[in-house]
Amino acid sequence: MDIGIIRRDFPITKRLIYMNNASSSPMPITSIKAATDFMLTLAEYGPDSTSSISRIEELMLDTRKVISKMLNCNEQEIIFTHSTTEGINIVSKGLKSKGKILIRDGIHEHPANYIPWIRNEVVRLKIDEHGFISLDEVKEKIVESKLVVLSHVLFNTGAILPVEEVSKITSEYNVPFFIDAAQSVGAIDVDLKKIECDFLSFPASKWLCGPSGIGVFYCKKEKQDLLEPLIDGNSYIIDDKIVLSDIPARFEAGFRNYAALAAFNSSLKYILSIGISNIRERNMKLAGILREGLKDREIYGPHEAEKRSSIVSFNDNNIDDLLTKLERAGIIFAKRDIMGKNIIRASPHFFNDEQEINRALSIINA
Ligand SMILES: Cc1ncc(COP(=O)(O)O)c(C=O)c1O
Repeated sequence: MDIGIIRRDFPITKRLIYMNNASSSPMPITSIKAATDFMLTLAEYGPDSTSSISRIEELMLDTRKVISKMLNCNEQEIIFTHSTTEGINIVSKGLKSKGKILIRDGIHEHPANYIPWIRNEVVRLKIDEHGFISLDEVKEKIVESKLVVLSHVLFNTGAILPVEEVSKITSEYNVPFFIDAAQSVGAIDVDLKKIECDFLSFPASKWLCGPSGIGVFYCKKEKQDLLEPLIDGNSYIIDDKIVLSDIPARFEAGFRNYAALAAFNSSLKYILSIGISNIRERNMKLAGILREGLKDREIYGPHEAEKRSSIVSFNDNNIDDLLTKLERAGIIFAKRDIMGKNIIRASPHFFNDEQEINRALSIINA
């Protein structure tokens, strides 16, 4: 990984020390160019002409192929959405079976992966201070559940939940499993042959350095009939009856933002050319330097590196003042919460460097 070249690919590094990638990451210049090139092509060849449609189809096929290779699943199981939240709602509103949904306690969960579920009857799993759950409690409570829901990596403490182990339990009890992978895909390896979940959702715009407004919903092929489409319009009418198309079309009604998809395609290839394991290694090195420099403060989340992502959350007596000071120095962190308590969250990604971390620490520790 040549960090000098990588930093030149990210225009943001000229202006800001940006460490809010768990919210939205910047795009490399190649992705920005891919989007503008695609818009120009459609402007020249017509947004809906035979040649443009075949370009769009090719783009969708290629992007599905890249994502399915990354996640180790079938191309057909990749459905383009607008966001993680849309994927969550496809399942929370579409699940046909009756019963309770097993979720983590909401005081530690991202609202997007909590509010849509509590419109159903839910059973809550207890959590410890990092957000971890007990596998024994999953085994105990799964018998009364129709679906299990977890975030893969927690947005606040960065804890990596044991989704592979949970998927063994859900498979054993034949209960479908939904994973919110907003904070994992692009940051850590996500292999759907190891994690046997049925549904999974993530955006382009976080750790994959893609644009906002495009996301992915993974639906295991055999499980598509468990869901009624949330947005209808891609079905057939035969003998006056609606016949649902197969996935991905079933859950992909309506046009997508194809320029954003072109950027996403380019970002995925960029990320994969660096390699997720190299990204993970670099991110954890940067997070380690930051944590080390924050040693006088309370840092949230598990201490063991293998149990967390590069999200570093810590406290301050005056969070808003510190965030303003950092922002005046061109350093972007974020304010989030853990169990109702405000915290500062830094989320470095591979294009950040050691100097940037040290500059942020000099302001925090001043
Ligand atoms: C764990 C988690 N789930 C869902 C979301 C919402 O993502 P999106 O904006 O793609 O719907 C976020 C955003 O920060 C998140 O961290």
